[in-house]
Amino acid sequence: MKELDKLLAICLSEIAGCDDVKKLDSIKSLVLGKNGKLTEMMKGLRDLSVEEKREQGTEINRAKSTILENLKIKADELELKELEKKLSAEKIDVSMPARSCNFGRLHPLTKVTEEVSDILSSYGFILADGPEIENEYYNFTALNMPEHHPARTMHDTFYVNELADDFGRKLLRTHTSPVEIRTMHTRKPPFRMFSIGRTFRSDYDATHTPMFSQIEGLIIDKDIGFANLKWLLGDFLKRFFGVSKVNMRFRPSFFPFTEPSAEVDIAYHEENKKLIFGTGDKWLEIAGCGVLHPNVLEAGRVDASKYRGLAFGCGLERLTSLKYGIPDLRGYFESTVNWRNSFGFYPFAK
Ligand code: DAH
Repeated sequence: MKELDKLLAICLSEIAGCDDVKKLDSIKSLVLGKNGKLTEMMKGLRDLSVEEKREQGTEINRAKSTILENLKIKADELELKELEKKLSAEKIDVSMPARSCNFGRLHPLTKVTEEVSDILSSYGFILADGPEIENEYYNFTALNMPEHHPARTMHDTFYVNELADDFGRKLLRTHTSPVEIRTMHTRKPPFRMFSIGRTFRSDYDATHTPMFSQIEGLIIDKDIGFANLKWLLGDFLKRFFGVSKVNMRFRPSFFPFTEPSAEVDIAYHEENKKLIFGTGDKWLEIAGCGVLHPNVLEAGRVDASKYRGLAFGCGLERLTSLKYGIPDLRGYFESTVNWRNSFGFYPFAK
């Protein structure tokens, strides 16, 4: 059976050197297929004696099972190799730069609204709201600006229509001060409230837009006076601008709803073309404030013999522009993607 030994040796070495499943299949059919070498040998047994048949048949069968076993081992090995090749081709490269992703930005007014709300609520101020479509009563009359009061014409009001009811005509509120009255009507004193929202005036140039925003604050309490307002605004500005010292100037002024009234200036100076707030010999107007006029307390149905009101109001865009160096007021409302990419804030930044 020299021939069988030779065939087995060749076959096993072919299997050992095989590196491809298809080649392995062709080896199998060359040896064990219908006309395969070993099959032919099997067929040759026909002409032999019973004794030889058994002897050689046993050897051929043994060779066959050795070949099958080796084929199986090789097939498994090749399959594993194939799988590894696939896996390594599909491997995720964690060092690859991430695909860029466009986040929206918070509008600076949203950011500053949050900042101001955080500070004011830490003093116990509650957030109040009022309608943007107001009426003459809340916007003017209750704030000590009766009909024909000259201040009404100064406000360049947008009237919604000419129809008047008991509250006068409907209009777009020209300031957030009507929320003071609405809150006095719904809250029992003492309280501290603030409101932030849109206001409207018929005005348009580089520093005026028909829509803008205001912050309003009101304290109704006993035994309070201007000194409390001074401390509050000073502390607020320190925290808002993140500085340890704020020099302020209270300039006597006039608002129909407060008496006395003042405008608040904050000191500043320039350092490397940046404005630094709190100290310096220049002044910027930042807010209006005052002690609520008794007529306004009365309109708010607050007992003026027991309580006093301290109020302040300021422009939200102005505060925002000062803190974040935003030059043109109009950008706030055009709010293009480019503008927001320059001046906006990442929503998740702390
Ligand atoms: N409402 C005023 C305005 O629009 C701003 C203001 C000034 C509000 C003084 C106040 C205040 O509450 O006390 O010009």
